[in-house]
Formats: sequence, C-alpha cells, structure tokens
Amino acid sequence: MKILAIETSCDETAVAVVEDGRRVLANVIASQVVKHAETGGVVPEVAAREHIKAMIPCVQEALGEAGVNEKEIDAIAVTREPGLVGSLIVGRMTAAALAFAWDKPLTEVNHIHGHIYSTWLDLEKEPEFPILVLTVSGGHNDLVLMRGHGDMDLIGETLDDAAGEAFDKTARLLGLGYPGGPAIEEVAKGGNSEFAKFPRGKMEGFDFSFSGLKTAVLYFLQDNEGSREDEQFMKDVAASFQETVADILVGRLEDAVKKYKPREVHLTGGVSANRYLRGRIEEMLSRVAEAPVFRFPIKMAYCTDNAAMIGAAGYFKLRQPGK
Ligand code: KG4
Ligand code: ZN
Repeated sequence: MKILAIETSCDETAVAVVEDGRRVLANVIASQVVKHAETGGVVPEVAAREHIKAMIPCVQEALGEAGVNEKEIDAIAVTREPGLVGSLIVGRMTAAALAFAWDKPLTEVNHIHGHIYSTWLDLEKEPEFPILVLTVSGGHNDLVLMRGHGDMDLIGETLDDAAGEAFDKTARLLGLGYPGGPAIEEVAKGGNSEFAKFPRGKMEGFDFSFSGLKTAVLYFLQDNEGSREDEQFMKDVAASFQETVADILVGRLEDAVKKYKPREVHLTGGVSANRYLRGRIEEMLSRVAEAPVFRFPIKMAYCTDNAAMIGAAGYFKLRQPGK
C-alpha cells in the first residue's frame, strides 16, 4: 500500500510517499528555518503563509521523486494535531482536497504518533513489542509504552517545557541562534560538562520538567556577565546544560526500563538527532539486565519533523479494524 503523507504542524512543509509503513519512496521537506532565523523563532502567521506557497510544489516533487502518479497512491495521511493551528489547516485542507479529487481514503494522524513510528522507517524487519518510546522535540516530551499498534500508554510527559524547547531557549540566552539544539550540540563538544551544576528537578513518577533548568542557566549567565565574551566559558555552559538535559532524560528512561522491561527502547523527535544523548542512552542500556534493543531514526531527516513518519503511522492506523 502506497500512502501520500502530508505534515505541516510547525515550520516544515513536508510530503512523503511511503510503501507498507516502512519503505520511504520520497521524503520532501521544504524548511522555513531561514525565514524563522530572522525572528529567532517561529511566527505562526508567517509559517502558515509559507506552507501555502510550498504545499502543492512539495506534493508534485514527492510524486516525482517516488516515480508514481496519483492513480498509484492508495491512501492519503495527514497530521491532525497537535501543532500551530494555521499551519495544520493548510496540510489538512490539502489532504482532504486530494483525497476527494483522487477518490482515496484519508487518515488523520496525531503528530506524536508520527514521531513514534519514525524509527520504523527504512527498517528491514518490524520492531518487537513492547516498545518504550521517548519522544523529545521542540513541543513534546513524552514517554510512551507501546504494546501494539493503537495500544499506547502515556506514562510520562513534561509538566512545563519540552527538552527541545529548553535547547532553543538556552541557545538564545547563549546567543547561538535558532534552532538551538544542533548549535548547542556543536558548541558543547569543546566544553567541560561539569563546569556548572544545574538543577535536575526530580519529579514524581515518570514526568519531566525543564523550565527550572532554563531559569538556572539565565541566572548563571547574569551572575557571570563578565565572562560572556570568553569563548571557553560559553562552551562550558553549553556542555553543562546538555549534560543536565541528558541526565534528566536518561534517569527517567532508566527507571521506566526497569519497571516495564520493554523488548526495545526507541528515541524519537528532533532531540533524538543529538549524538551525545544517543550515546548516554546506549551506555545506560548496556548496564541494564537483558538490555533492550535501542533504536533511533535511521536518518537524521527522520528525527525532526517529516512526512514519512506520518505515512508510517497512517499505514498502521489504516490497517487496524474500525479506523
Ligand atoms: O521534532 P521537531 O522537528 O519539531 C517538533 O515537533 O517540535 O523538533 C525540533 C526540536 C528543536 O527544539 C531543536 O532545537 C531540537 O529539536 N533539535 C535538537 C537537535 N536537533 C534538533 N536538540 C538537540 N540536539 C540536536 N542535535
Ligand atoms: Zn515534531
């Protein structure tokens, strides 16, 4: 089954063609990052207008890249929510119009479910349940126990900021620009991660909190105003921040792995692109008895927002009876 998938929840106009939930035939992404770098973040109205301009060319490009015409498409999948309302509408209206014009079934997918399936893309063999999935992006920070398709339990979430949001806000404090995650990861390479001690904010159960960390970085920079021009100082702060985020995420994940004993652990969402975090999780899992299989998206392009993951989630949703 070939699915044409559309994702426009934030600042990426993305269209993909995915076969049988895993084989990516086309994955087109028109990024607005240059546009939003001017403002240091996403302005919703600007994002929606950019989606309108990029939408149809992206659909045409994806069909071309996949080498298929609309008759060979079996269904349309689109991100329903959550996201920026104006941006989501552009994708959903386009998907509805195409489904009507081409006479194809339409399935609407939750954006987080999309991220959850991003680790399935390009895999030879299907992963094995139960899977513990940590989705860390700019807007979300969810720990989900997946026992099967359509059988997902949210066991932990952030009570305030998401990890990616903390990366973006801290990068702004450090004058590193937008998006903050890749910039901090790069700068942190040359820094001392034990330079500053930031709070880990231990919550009850499996929930997360990152707003205290952002504030702690702000106060630390204010207290050391004179060192801002010192390049090594900024690297050390970036490394200490990244270390703290990793400690919080890995600590919670370790507790959940011990409690739920999953067969696999998956890391998804924009922050899953972070190599330091991947390494820390790998290291933690190697210490756990009967270590679960660890996966993150095979390509960097599947970590951040993309439509291929929506095509994968849409496929497994369409296969369930009654959906
Ligand atoms: O999944 P995504 O593209 O969009 C949302 O659904 O939010 O995630 C974007 C987030 C941004 O906050 C960005 O700073 C973060 O992912 N990110 C990273 C890295 N690459 C992207 N965070 C840490 N390290 C990275 N290498
Ligand atoms: Zn996302």
